[in-house]
Amino acid sequence: MKTEMLNGLKRTHMCTEVSVKNLNEEVTLMGWVQTRRDMGGIIFIDLRDRTGLVQIVFNNSISSELLEKAEKLRSEYVIAIKGIVEKRSDETINPNMKTGEIEVIVNELRILSKSEALPFQIEDGIPTNELVRLKNRCLDLRRNEMKEKLITRYKITKIARDYYDENGFLEIETPILTKSTPEGARDYLVPSRVVPGTFFALPQSPQLFKQMLMVSGYDRYIQIAKCFRDEDLRADRQPEFTQIDLEMSFVDEEDVMTLNEGFLKRVFKEILNVDIPTPFIRMPYKEAMDRFGSDKPDIRFGMELVDLSDIVKDCDFKVFSDAVARGGSVRAINAKGCGDKFSRREIDALGEFAKIYRAKGLAWISLENGEIKSAITKFLKQEEIDSILKAMDAESGDLILFAADVNDIVYDVLGNLRLEVARKLDLLNKDDYKFLWVTEFPQFEYSEEEQRLVAKHHPFTMPMNEDIPLLDTNPASVRAKAYDVVLNGVEIGGGSLRIYNSELQEKMFNLLGIDSETAHERFGFLLNAFKYGVPPHGGMAYGLDRLVMLITKTDNIKDVIAFPKLQNSSCPLTDAPSVVDYKQLRDLRIKSTAEEKK
Ligand code: AMO
Ligand code: AMP
Repeated sequence: MKTEMLNGLKRTHMCTEVSVKNLNEEVTLMGWVQTRRDMGGIIFIDLRDRTGLVQIVFNNSISSELLEKAEKLRSEYVIAIKGIVEKRSDETINPNMKTGEIEVIVNELRILSKSEALPFQIEDGIPTNELVRLKNRCLDLRRNEMKEKLITRYKITKIARDYYDENGFLEIETPILTKSTPEGARDYLVPSRVVPGTFFALPQSPQLFKQMLMVSGYDRYIQIAKCFRDEDLRADRQPEFTQIDLEMSFVDEEDVMTLNEGFLKRVFKEILNVDIPTPFIRMPYKEAMDRFGSDKPDIRFGMELVDLSDIVKDCDFKVFSDAVARGGSVRAINAKGCGDKFSRREIDALGEFAKIYRAKGLAWISLENGEIKSAITKFLKQEEIDSILKAMDAESGDLILFAADVNDIVYDVLGNLRLEVARKLDLLNKDDYKFLWVTEFPQFEYSEEEQRLVAKHHPFTMPMNEDIPLLDTNPASVRAKAYDVVLNGVEIGGGSLRIYNSELQEKMFNLLGIDSETAHERFGFLLNAFKYGVPPHGGMAYGLDRLVMLITKTDNIKDVIAFPKLQNSSCPLTDAPSVVDYKQLRDLRIKSTAEEKK
């Protein structure tokens, strides 16, 4: 069977544009064969294009050659047809299909392209191995589920461009071949041929350039920006991801947060028709940690952490009293109803889960049927037990889970246990959207690896005014003018106000152990720009992929990226990264140790 050409044939409608309004009209449609049902003497085909499906019909009444040709059609053949739109008989109307009231009686068929047998069916919800899907991405992307997600992604970027444009922003591109940026992940490097032995870094974000643009007076900048970070991948991370990146001049934190609430409100209204209430809660970092054990708290449910250190600091259970004596704490969550619900095995599994987050054990008290069951109550006095139960608001059927350690570990363990219990109890409703801003982040965090303070956000972040004196006395306690926007426990964006005063910037570099030479070597162009009149400025960046994930209700970041990377950062489609020609390496004056080993 030979394939045919369009030869000037023009499409008149997309598949789902055809409706009862076109009855008895001749239409020309083009697309893929989704399904073919041969009823003997009559063949029904669901024809698919980007917009969806329409039923087309071949029958004997036109010509027997046409029917014979239609018999040759198989799934995913690409065809063009001409036909007359007819109303379906009442019994054959399909209310689940946009075009379910009509069908097109074909009078001309052209087979434009054939398809081999498929590795998997082009249908939604089919359990196909992810690697097979990714290796055959062109077929996977034909599925409606994937199409919907990519269309939603496009719509969000369109809303971003419109919204920020209406608010006076300019979209300006920044370089991809550049120098290391200050986000602190590992860089992707690109060797220079022209100056052998030197390298570009791919940007981890456009951070320094957008600040330059503020110094240049562009006032408001936005960019849908590709960012590159060579870090360990997780379910919501990709080595190459996209930010909606923005920066504003002459603003404070409230200005940035309020304007961005407007953007999120518009996105949720236009895409999901959901009204999200603004302003969002602003929650200082310390409160987020104390109440939820996380700097990106999921506030769709309670189960908050309770500090029991005062109650147990002198108790006979050494695990508890020692943790407090060493400057740590003992905290707990109340898994309501789980004393009755969870078996011993399930509680032990929670203990194993806690160990992932460095817990040394997981003490618990169960009030199964109102009776206390616990391995630790024998070490506690009755009044200590009573005070704990009271502080935890415990009732019959509850399960109290304890963590005793340094605060970092206590937060991490309970913050994650809280989510794990919520997953088990099915408390995480994907249709419930709970936003908040986490504010007043610590300016620094201590890096065990480097044995020094490092910037929690980046070295250009402005400290809070009232904490500036603490830079000299107790830098670890300094809070920053930094904020993250969190949706249902996911950090969807973050930013800060920036330092615009060179003395303060210098002090910051000193505290971070970056000497002036290194600062100039790394960020010289920005520091130079800062000599010539700098407006107060600040901004933020959204993780676009994460925002799309939440809106399309998927837990897998690969589902919202047309051509994503695998866990090991490779591209399953192109097999990149790959070995290159010896000659290419020679031009770059690069010697590969991988080559030598061969
Ligand atoms: P930050 O490093 O917090 O800030 O990044 C901003 C947002 O980008 C998303 N994100 C990622 N998404 C997918 N894969 C990744 N590997 C990944 N890493 C980060 C997150 C995060 O909130 N220049 C600053 C912004 C600023 O200060 O204006 C920055 O890049 O959703
Ligand atoms: P042990 O006396 O070490 O056997 O511990 C008694 C109980 O306390 C066990 O249920 C342990 O899982 C639990 N436990 C041990 N260390 C900790 C800790 N750091 N935080 C919370 N519970 C712990």
